Amino acid sequence: MLEENGISCNADHILLTPGGKNAIYLAVNAILNPDEEVIVLDPSWVSYEPIIQAAGGRCVKVKLDYQTQYRITKEKLEEAYSERTRLLIINYPNNPTGCILHEDEADILEAFLLEHPEVYLLSDEVYETLVYDGNKSVSMAARARVSERVITVNGFSKSAAMTGWRMGYMVSNEEVFKTAYKLYTHSLSCMSGFLQKGAVHAFACKRETEEMRRIYEQRRNMFIGILNGTKGVHCNLPEGAFYAWVYFDVKGMDSFAMCDYLMENAGVVGMPGSAYGEESVCCMRFSFAAATEDLERAAKNIKAAIEKLG
Ligand SMILES: Cc1ncc(COP(=O)(O)O)c(C=O)c1O
Repeated sequence: MLEENGISCNADHILLTPGGKNAIYLAVNAILNPDEEVIVLDPSWVSYEPIIQAAGGRCVKVKLDYQTQYRITKEKLEEAYSERTRLLIINYPNNPTGCILHEDEADILEAFLLEHPEVYLLSDEVYETLVYDGNKSVSMAARARVSERVITVNGFSKSAAMTGWRMGYMVSNEEVFKTAYKLYTHSLSCMSGFLQKGAVHAFACKRETEEMRRIYEQRRNMFIGILNGTKGVHCNLPEGAFYAWVYFDVKGMDSFAMCDYLMENAGVVGMPGSAYGEESVCCMRFSFAAATEDLERAAKNIKAAIEKLG
């Protein structure tokens, strides 16, 4: 971790889990007491809120804006904060927006944690290796002044395309680790040895994972290039992950209606922005983790279907 993202950690505080999702589940349950609050930045991945609710907590959404490329602001965080706030969950590279965490936003998060010493931060970095254009997403646990209160979650589903293997991990301070480990021992016991060996091998496959990242970058450029050449459609180039977060300027249609329309008229399935908490504009999420030819056909079909609307 130190070599790749500057996180200095104790190997005894790394917990191997069946996917990053389970790591998030364990960490949230280890930290949260009933009725405490967790701040989540919207648009957000669909599982955070149910996990928080299952732990007896309350999810407080901070709505970031499409118009400002979903950048974090101090004001928005402070507005969401209350005396019951115990945890803040962030996810960079982000599903669904493709945004990465920039240094100036990491400064804001660091200042927020220093201001509120009872708050933990969970950083979901499962798309960490999928970043484009030579950029890097900041890992908050690399910030020494707050690293004790940062739980980092990662896994092999995205970086090594090992989704079905269900291999993930979390790293935290000793206190969180010990509680999460108790939950783990009495529910999961351990991860199978052969899965662990497979995951260790994935660390050695740097050349292959870099090749995969490069191909995603090419697909991203092609898919978004075609969509951005369509009147009424706009998509910022995602900085990371493998999702195109596409804005449709079409009157009278919300993201659900647009999903139905494109499924019927373009034969393309995407996710409605409202599923991620984006209600103010009509956005859809498309995955570009598919074959290049299929993606090209999908983008051309979307273009034709939108042009048909006039
Ligand atoms: C943001 C985010 N976090 C976590 C996960 C869970 O991944 P895993 O397969 O490692 O459980 C996903 C999967 O889609 C995701 O998009």
